[in-house]
Amino acid sequence: MNSLFSQVQLGRYTLSNRMVMAPMTRSRSDDSGVPTELVPTYYAQRAGAGLIITEGVFPVALGKGYVRTPGIETAEQVAAWKQVSEAVHARGGRIFMQLMHCGRISHPSLLPNGAQPQAPSAIKPAGQTWTATGLEDFVTPHALSVVEIASVIEDYRRAARLAVEAGFDGVELHAASGYLPEQFLSTGSNQRTDEYGGSVENRVRFVLEVLNAVSTEIGSDRVGLKISPEMNFNDIVDANPQETYTYLVEQLRGLNLGYLHVALFGASIDYHALLRPLFDGSYLIGGGLDQHSAESLIVDGRADAAVFGSAFLANPDLPERFRTGAGLNVPNKDTFYAPGVEGYIDYPAMSPAQSA
Ligand SMILES: Cc1cc2nc3c(=O)[nH]c(=O)nc-3n(C[C@H](O)[C@H](O)[C@H](O)COP(=O)(O)O)c2cc1C
Repeated sequence: MNSLFSQVQLGRYTLSNRMVMAPMTRSRSDDSGVPTELVPTYYAQRAGAGLIITEGVFPVALGKGYVRTPGIETAEQVAAWKQVSEAVHARGGRIFMQLMHCGRISHPSLLPNGAQPQAPSAIKPAGQTWTATGLEDFVTPHALSVVEIASVIEDYRRAARLAVEAGFDGVELHAASGYLPEQFLSTGSNQRTDEYGGSVENRVRFVLEVLNAVSTEIGSDRVGLKISPEMNFNDIVDANPQETYTYLVEQLRGLNLGYLHVALFGASIDYHALLRPLFDGSYLIGGGLDQHSAESLIVDGRADAAVFGSAFLANPDLPERFRTGAGLNVPNKDTFYAPGVEGYIDYPAMSPAQSA
């Protein structure tokens, strides 16, 4: 019988267990989007995961959405990421890079030359975002032209190539949490009247084109997709999420993607029951799991692997702790995005007495 600790095939890789570390923004990069020297240590500490998915990484500077977040565009960024992949591989781990273009969830102060954030339509999201000088209102974004959309897709393609050049095992497209891909998927942020908006066929076009470009570049079996239907984060609203995500996942058939990662947070229906039968690759479930709930998802065959966020953040040796029944460190929210060592690489592993 499968368990959290059994091996699983994911694309071309055999993972040593079914515990996946969730993508988590940690804001430990410099102002040029280069990961600092703390970052390889942080990920290497967590290499016992069957798979690590990195924090969101912007494929192009115009996709940056938060202070001190990393990119994969410049030679300096690639060199720094190489240290990360090497540190994880040296400990026997596997690591995918999450590509995150924030679209309208950004601010001119975070973008080159104070540029306007980009989005499918010029619709300002409600709410505020952290900038270098504190909280600021979101602004009305620039609606991408069809030519600009093609250029963003090429940015994703290049980023995937650079991730592989930096030694990563694959990439995950972040199409959740109200960022650019989900802005295309959702009726509230996409009011285009061309081939990228309107019907569900048109709203999913951007995501499918990005997946195709990235897959052509690095091989589809090392490309994953993250979605979170009904998460409603970052002012994202869709009139008919069941229709949107059913259609999207149906279109993934035959693409031979490495995995589909679905994170749910209080959705109105069981999207896993709806979507898993439609998908022909590995299915990853995330969002609020503990050891017990994750184990039953695997044993019952409802997921191929379970994704843990804050538990992995606070417990570098989470698989070992689950295996031995040891207690867990508690995540400290105050240091999630704070610069520096504290709350980043100083969460203790189990003591020898605990692991005995
Ligand atoms: C500090 C923090 C940062 C996060 N940043 C990202 C991110 O960059 N990309 C992403 O897809 N999800 C991000 N998430 C969401 C997680 O990937 C995951 O879906 C969420 O934490 C739920 O899992 P959990 O209940 O096990 O923590 C973040 C979560 C946390 C706690």
